[in-house]
Amino acid sequence: MYTINGNYLQLQGSYLFSDIAKKVAAYQEKNPGAKVIRLGIGDVTQPLAPAIVEALQRAVEQMGTAEGFHGYGPEQGYDFLREAIVEHDYRARGLSVAADEIFVSDGAKCDVGNIQEIFGADNRVAVCDPVYPVYVDTNVMAGRSGRFVQDAGGFERLIYMPCTEENGFAPSLPETAPDLIYLCFPNNPTGAVIPKDALQRWVDYANEKGAVILYDAAYEAYISEDNVPHSIYECSGARTCAIEIHSFSKNAGFTGLRLGYTVVPKDLAQNGLRLHSLWGRRQGTKYNGAPYIVQRAGEAVYSTEGKKQLKKQVGYYMENARLIREGLRDMGYCAYGGVNAPYIWLKTPDHMSSWAFFDLLLQRAQVVGTPGCGFGKSGEGYFRLTAFGTQENTREALARIRRL
Ligand code: MLT
Repeated sequence: MYTINGNYLQLQGSYLFSDIAKKVAAYQEKNPGAKVIRLGIGDVTQPLAPAIVEALQRAVEQMGTAEGFHGYGPEQGYDFLREAIVEHDYRARGLSVAADEIFVSDGAKCDVGNIQEIFGADNRVAVCDPVYPVYVDTNVMAGRSGRFVQDAGGFERLIYMPCTEENGFAPSLPETAPDLIYLCFPNNPTGAVIPKDALQRWVDYANEKGAVILYDAAYEAYISEDNVPHSIYECSGARTCAIEIHSFSKNAGFTGLRLGYTVVPKDLAQNGLRLHSLWGRRQGTKYNGAPYIVQRAGEAVYSTEGKKQLKKQVGYYMENARLIREGLRDMGYCAYGGVNAPYIWLKTPDHMSSWAFFDLLLQRAQVVGTPGCGFGKSGEGYFRLTAFGTQENTREALARIRRL
């Protein structure tokens, strides 16, 4: 008889965004005429930029010809895309990353979830609290949830680093040294960023402790202020301690196309064993590479036209962020984020719980957001709104909240 992976029993309920979707579906079933505005999950709403559509069309045409057909591609991604990434995201910023250190994938969510597989089950993992649930859940699935008992002592495998109003939503270096550290800046869900000197302290700490930073840079395109690092490789010493993960979802609207990439520097090694080789081995075995047509679309993100069009698209969402942040503040809410990130992190009024506020907004304003407690204990009493809606819906949602 089969047995199941008991680690799955340690997971909390269901995935946060599935819970929300179920609640909204139940509400809509009871109120079929209601016009619900969704500012919950960070899914984009603007159509693909013309440069991307043209690249897709060209690639599809090619695939329909004998000469242009592409079957399995290189698992790490086509050279044309890896070169474009290196040129625009790194070399243009004076950063040293080589094309063969780029692993193209079908999105950052998969990479942040899968990357922990190359580390031992006994690693201690530090995560921010509140946190993007994928970091926690995938580590729990791998058995890194409970207490590691060693003789009479022991330690928790998951180390939560509170990010609160008091510390400006920036985690402090943990007292118990972790082996793996997930950082995400601009942050999901709080929208917070940290300046370069603060990130440098994390890099120095990781090098000193022999830890690896898993740096999620999915929202890098939303940085609007100076002195906010766009890449962890801006910090000296990052090549020996950091893996950086990027997404095409938020900067180029690829949530439905799926594309991302992970940088594993060849300098990241322990006793001569390179994480680059392990991740390459993992991807080679479990992954056949992102589709050719999607990688051609990714290449178009870096074209002159593509860059211009996407700058406008990011600007559109950031105008939503401004509207939400300023609108909420004007109504008397305490609202954070939305300056370097497409998320606004607000304090629920009158100490309401996050889920009570979720229900209130859904029932009385037909607006859907994400309860802060879904991201962790320190998220209780907070609520996240995304700037990825249409401007029309964003304005309408704010008007409804104001009427409350
Ligand atoms: C979110 O809402 O936190 C994001 O959409 C999650 C994701 O990109 O997977």
